[in-house]
Amino acid sequence: MLNDLAKVLLTKEQIDTRVAELGAQISRDYAGKDLVAICILKGALHFMADLTRQITIPLSIDFMAISSYGAGTKTSGVVRILQDLDSSIADRHVLIVEDIVDSGLTLKYLVDNLSSRRPASLKIVTLLDKPARRAVAIAPHYNGFDIPDEFVVGYGLDYDEKYRNLPFIGVLKPEIYQK
Ligand code: IMP
Repeated sequence: MLNDLAKVLLTKEQIDTRVAELGAQISRDYAGKDLVAICILKGALHFMADLTRQITIPLSIDFMAISSYGAGTKTSGVVRILQDLDSSIADRHVLIVEDIVDSGLTLKYLVDNLSSRRPASLKIVTLLDKPARRAVAIAPHYNGFDIPDEFVVGYGLDYDEKYRNLPFIGVLKPEIYQK
């Protein structure tokens, strides 16, 4: 797997430090509120697990599985819900936990979809943001790192379902996805 990477972009230590900061900030911002954190599967799996353990206030967790890519490296804009939430989010404070915001199309779809269920509030936390690639006007409320326009894998992020288990974030060699 390591041979497929051009470089390490973010080490495990850098990720852990930033995730702890985000957890502390979210704990402060949501103190006294009925918080539900929604993990967007599969990419946000590791971020969700680490972030929620850094949040010191009570919360519920739920999961939504969506698909937007197929095997390529660009979003089609067509988002499919593969698995929906277990519980109602009406009147609750919802935090969407995402791995990366790229074009923003996936998030726009999710925000529109979840807003229609009448949450008390709806915010987004993403580990990574590629602002240079944005196609729709949408900004996460909490963001771990801005990254350049490169295809990254690891810490939950995949290419063709591989590399999710790397404990750090690396840049995939272009020849892997240009094959
Ligand atoms: P968007 O709809 O273009 O913003 O794409 C968001 C989704 O695409 C993310 O939730 C990821 O699953 C995937 N994605 C975007 N960029 C990358 C990347 O660099 N590596 C792996 N997955 C990515």
